[in-house]
Amino acid sequence: MTSQQQPSHPSVSQQSSRQTIIAGNWKMFGTAESTRAFAEEMVRDPRLAHASGNGVGVVICPPTPLLHVLRPFCGTFFELGGQDCHQNVNGAFTGDVSAGMLVDAGCRYVIVGHSERRRYHHETDDVVAQKTRAALSAGLTPIVCVGETLEERQAEQTADVVLRQLDVVLQAVSPDQQFVLAYEPVWAIGTGLVATVEQAGEVHQILRKFYRQRVSNDITILYGGSVNATNAKELLAHSDIDGALVGGASLESRSFLAIVEATGV
Ligand code: 13P
Repeated sequence: MTSQQQPSHPSVSQQSSRQTIIAGNWKMFGTAESTRAFAEEMVRDPRLAHASGNGVGVVICPPTPLLHVLRPFCGTFFELGGQDCHQNVNGAFTGDVSAGMLVDAGCRYVIVGHSERRRYHHETDDVVAQKTRAALSAGLTPIVCVGETLEERQAEQTADVVLRQLDVVLQAVSPDQQFVLAYEPVWAIGTGLVATVEQAGEVHQILRKFYRQRVSNDITILYGGSVNATNAKELLAHSDIDGALVGGASLESRSFLAIVEATGV
């Protein structure tokens, strides 16, 4: 892990190519009340100030209607992210949110291509690539998710799947447009089945090598899938795992802060 970024929130183009990032994806959970309590606990905790003061990027991606609750707390110790954005700037797309709207709401990041979006909203690799481009154009840092299903892993297609997913995104963006990659094996999401360090590390290496060959630069790669306070330290100790994209364990400040602490920063 590298942590060269200062907590003064440099623009995307100023970011170093690898950063330690712990991002929480709340999915469709939370109320205004629980969100306020979470934020108050977070900003009171010295571990957060310590980690962010030493270059760890801490990102919370709540449901869109809760962004405004977190906004007054964010910017110093943690950043806000959306969970998805539309590929268009605006238009008749009922229920969707554009990348520019997320910027307006205080976001610096947005998750794109999460397997739940790919699965339940039928998002193709191409749509994910368009969303990545839209997010970058709006000034957001996309957190692009890739990952194989259990069937694909069992058929030994993991590398093919994740490289195909990454390749389509790389074709849509220019080499100087930096994004964050998240390797989230679908079979490890919400199942309690965490990938072993060897399994996660192997895929991170494959992704990093491919990215380096295509873009003569490095990239921040997060692992996601049943990360919790107990397994985070071992995963984060791997030299190719730069951070974590955390679902369930990001809903409580106590477990999320334990993962931030597990960065060892
Ligand atoms: P869990 O940590 O709940 O497995 O979710 C992972 C995830 O999907 C984060 O985006």
